[in-house]
Amino acid sequence: MANYEIHEYDVLVVGAGGAGLRAAIEASAQGVSVALVCKSLLGKAHTVMAEGGIAAALSNVDQQDNWETHFCDTISGGKHLNNWRMAQLHAQESPERVRELERWGAVFDRTSDGQILQRAFGGHKWKRLCHVGDRTGLEMIRTLQDRGVHQGISVYMECTITRLLKDGEKIAGAFGYFRQDGRYVVFKAKAVVLATGGAGRSYPVTSNSWEYTGDGHALAYEAGADLIDMEFVQFHPTGMVWPPGVRGLLVTEGVRGEGGLLRNNAGERFMFRYLPESTRKDYAENEEESKRWVDAVLKGAKTEARRPPELSTRDNVARAIYLEVKEGKGTPHGGVFLDISYLNSERVKKKLPSMYQQFKDLADVDITKQPMEVGPTMHYMMGGVRVDADTAATRVPGLFAAGEVSGGMHGANRLGGNSLSDLIVFGRRAGAGAAEYAAGQEDRLQVSEDQINAAAEELEAPLTKKGGSSPYELQRSLQEIMGEHVGIFREDAVLAAGIAKLEEIKEELKTVSISGSKLYNPGWHLCRDLKNMIICSEAIARSALARTESRGAHSRLDYPDTDPEQAKFNIAISRLDGVMKLEKTPRPEMPADLKKLFEKKEQTNA
Ligand code: FUM
Repeated sequence: MANYEIHEYDVLVVGAGGAGLRAAIEASAQGVSVALVCKSLLGKAHTVMAEGGIAAALSNVDQQDNWETHFCDTISGGKHLNNWRMAQLHAQESPERVRELERWGAVFDRTSDGQILQRAFGGHKWKRLCHVGDRTGLEMIRTLQDRGVHQGISVYMECTITRLLKDGEKIAGAFGYFRQDGRYVVFKAKAVVLATGGAGRSYPVTSNSWEYTGDGHALAYEAGADLIDMEFVQFHPTGMVWPPGVRGLLVTEGVRGEGGLLRNNAGERFMFRYLPESTRKDYAENEEESKRWVDAVLKGAKTEARRPPELSTRDNVARAIYLEVKEGKGTPHGGVFLDISYLNSERVKKKLPSMYQQFKDLADVDITKQPMEVGPTMHYMMGGVRVDADTAATRVPGLFAAGEVSGGMHGANRLGGNSLSDLIVFGRRAGAGAAEYAAGQEDRLQVSEDQINAAAEELEAPLTKKGGSSPYELQRSLQEIMGEHVGIFREDAVLAAGIAKLEEIKEELKTVSISGSKLYNPGWHLCRDLKNMIICSEAIARSALARTESRGAHSRLDYPDTDPEQAKFNIAISRLDGVMKLEKTPRPEMPADLKKLFEKKEQTNA
């Protein structure tokens, strides 16, 4: 029999980044009791690493902007695979969510007439990114945390949830442990909101922090929810490549939004070559136009000049950098150059203070004088738990999901800045959905001791074994497989070989062992995290093999074209008799009034 402490709430929120905090605030505002569980310390969520801004059509800088254009940009960036309703709600509601953050104390950068300042980002037609220098995520978390704590939400820190508990088909709570001393804990709850972020730690080079091990994806999958679009993994084009200890660390797209230029080792602005053929011009003409755009940005003036190719969508820029390096046109440490040193140094320090400090402290590079070396880094999962757009409910009664752990909003490729806005739009909706659901449930649900004991036994297994595989070795192997077989470019045989290797790793996980006790034992934590990372990796690889086309972030060497027929379905993963089942499920059709916006957009652009 497992020993555990027990807590009871109406709503349990797992994850304390932007989505989790916003969900907890909303649920609590609806009058239900709420607990917030964080794997790390409160305030240290990975959201703080989102630097460049929150996308919202406030039209403070470019007055032409509106929710319709934001909606069209999001769907075009997502290569028409997005859940249209999520994209619509996101575009319509993000301005109010940003203003709300401001009312709650967030201190945004300002225009000269005192409005929230907005900057350019890839794939956004207008300057749309509300920002706080390059520390926007940090300010968002600080603000939401303040609000949540003062609202009386109970917070459980350094706590990992390892299993969702059910009463029949309904969610009834969650089981987990405290990371410091391995104490077990049961949360009884009528509704659970998953807001656990992504799974970047399954890849060898990632911008994601240590918590990002696909926990929510795996918890939902095991509880009976669907995962969709798992083949779509975003590689942010610019992570640090040097020194090795910080490889993958994010270099914000804000650098390019402020005029940063990408060059190969011959000094060429190679991105011009990766624009659609129809839009390419002569190199000198291109450079001249790009210079006019940067000059206008510096003066805060309007311009008809086309934005620089560095602000193409992330999938395109990441592929371009990868190919330049592969063709031998890279930097000494295997990246390309990102240069902002041609701008006034005070402006660079003011607009990009964290980048200045990050490169100075970690790489001994002064970005006001020297170019940075950057390369692609696994950054974001477009795929995730299938949810209802309006309520964030999954198909498991009582289970909700919001933020990166949920799927559908971003389609095949997310636009930068659409993540922070996603967190607050759908965090709020998930909190409201969960509170309403919980209020409609009469009694506390029953959780069987069997479920709790099984969860405890699973956790304890690696401590009772001797001489098995090391969790650290296993994670390294997993990362190698994902890097080599399920990276930026994919193809049939390579994916199939990767899946075979993942099958072997799954078997090896059963033998994993760790010495020591439950006290302060990170190796033991990793044993459990590995299970989640492997579930996510298998879902990514199997979905990538099944999508026989190239679309957004999913680039198949053997199927280089986009196939319009494949926009008609999502690839959905679910669990059937303990095995991963894959299905092509039809995507809801976009209503005619929204389709019309694209015709209008084409006319505007022509
Ligand atoms: O580049 C960045 O600042 C990242 C933003 C995002 O992923 O939304």
